[in-house]
Amino acid sequence: MGNKTLAIIKPDAVANGHTGKIIDHIINAGFKIKAMKMIHLTRSSAEGFYEIHKERQFFGELVEYMTSTPCIPMALEKENAVEEYRKLIGATDPAKAAEGTIRKLYAKNIQFNAVHGSDSDENAAKEISHFFSRDELLNNYSN
Ligand code: CMP
Repeated sequence: MGNKTLAIIKPDAVANGHTGKIIDHIINAGFKIKAMKMIHLTRSSAEGFYEIHKERQFFGELVEYMTSTPCIPMALEKENAVEEYRKLIGATDPAKAAEGTIRKLYAKNIQFNAVHGSDSDENAAKEISHFFSRDELLNNYSN
């Protein structure tokens, strides 16, 4: 059981002014932010990040969406981080997400779903390194 996960506040949530409220949810749930940046994803970065979905029919739309306006990737730390963060954000489709979850509160639909969370410890490590170098991850800081 790992203690890190990769979160993204996606373009729709940033553009709609939900960044602060989403970060509040994350901190109040006991996660420590070990790295964070605001970036406008390039096509090749978005395609690489979502490579696992490249055969899906929604892949083109997903890349368009993720490159539309800036987003905020974050490396988060907590015991059992992947599972705990997925509980906090709720189901991919906000219509199926539990009350009080980030997606229930801030997502529009299954595509524009406000936030991303890694689905395994293995993918968390890959996804964190997609956005952050070793030097950008805080090791001895507790927020
Ligand atoms: P995420 O958790 O980042 O992982 C893959 C993303 O693809 C997902 O959130 C959604 O933004 C998007 N997605 C998943 N399913 C669909 C779908 N059926 N139609 C359009 N987009 C989808």
